[in-house]
Amino acid sequence: MSLFDKCHEFSRWIESLKERREFFYLRTLDPAASPTVTMNGRKVIMLGSNNYLGLATHPKVVTATIKAVERYGTGACSSRVLTGTTSLHARLEKRLAEFKGTEDAVVFSTGFMTMMGVVSALTSSGDVILSDEFNHASIVEGCRLTDAEVRIYKHNDMADLKEKLAACGSDQNMLIVTDGVFSMKGTVADLPSIRKLAEQYGATTMVDDAHGMGVLGKTGRGTLEHFGMEGEFDLVCGTFSKSLGTTGGFVCADADVVTFLKLNSRPFIFSASPPPASMATVLACLDVMEEEPQLLERLRENTEFVKNGLAEMGFRLEETVTPIIPVLIGDDAKTFQMAGALEDEGVIVNPIVPPAVPAGSSLIRVSVMASLSRKELTTALETFRLAGQRLGII
Ligand SMILES: Cc1ncc(COP(=O)(O)O)c(C=O)c1O
Repeated sequence: MSLFDKCHEFSRWIESLKERREFFYLRTLDPAASPTVTMNGRKVIMLGSNNYLGLATHPKVVTATIKAVERYGTGACSSRVLTGTTSLHARLEKRLAEFKGTEDAVVFSTGFMTMMGVVSALTSSGDVILSDEFNHASIVEGCRLTDAEVRIYKHNDMADLKEKLAACGSDQNMLIVTDGVFSMKGTVADLPSIRKLAEQYGATTMVDDAHGMGVLGKTGRGTLEHFGMEGEFDLVCGTFSKSLGTTGGFVCADADVVTFLKLNSRPFIFSASPPPASMATVLACLDVMEEEPQLLERLRENTEFVKNGLAEMGFRLEETVTPIIPVLIGDDAKTFQMAGALEDEGVIVNPIVPPAVPAGSSLIRVSVMASLSRKELTTALETFRLAGQRLGII
């Protein structure tokens, strides 16, 4: 018996998945977030990246990042709390607060650490967290770390949320937490109803807008802008790892809440500061978003082009207003076959199967970028048509 027995068994299972062509993870792609990337020495079209606005490869963003590396070096080499906060971190926090219309903001090293660190630091024994059943793993992890009671409400189901709020004691602090855009299918949370219920029951509200930022709303400010309700959630969180070209995460909130998090959230205190150059990346991304609104237009045009193209061919799509396009296949094996056929013909997508989605509703998750050209999208659509016909999906 060894602690590693499970690892050996697991590896054998992974090998069997690879043999059956049911393993699409940990692929090596160079560079990862470009419209066309190299995989196993072949050029493939990228329909699986979260670099929605294409900012990770935007020349202005790349130049700003290089300049920051030249000035600040490659890392801050300390926790934010000790000697790891540079003027770039401070500038970005100020900018994010302005961007989201809150008093203050704090930047963490990743989005995962942000959600986990906010939920676990702000809640404790006697409090209740009401969390959507499909919330991201980082929120789930935050819920596991706290002594607060966690009540999971059915996905985007406001009647269930109301029932669970009504069952809370009047002396209990309540935190409603939801993704803004749910990452697997691009579904948008019903933030207006959540806000109303929170008001009715005196609950605090938190949104993880990882996939809404840069994508939703008139100017890409996110899901709250999409609903015309900026400033109406208490904690607005996000990540830099989707539209904002790098890694890191943030929460925008009242100044006292930010101060509390900076000195009480363990993932913030006991982990190194994100590299200063990443702060320069995000500052440049925010500039480009303001200076080049055509990128968002382009993203929306590209999304419509792909959605319409797939629907006209006969693929079943789930409703979406985001660049995440869920192409419903249903059967797991067919979903893997489709992903494999697309990959063989030069298109990268992400197959999504249970437990990420309910049984029988496996899908191909297509994600669109503003930087994809019409020619690349047309080639990708034609590849979808051929693979879909060959597998009897359309
Ligand atoms: C909804 C959501 N929240 C949080 C995260 C974590 O963000 P990060 O990749 O910056 O750790 C992700 C990304 O995987 C996400 O999709």
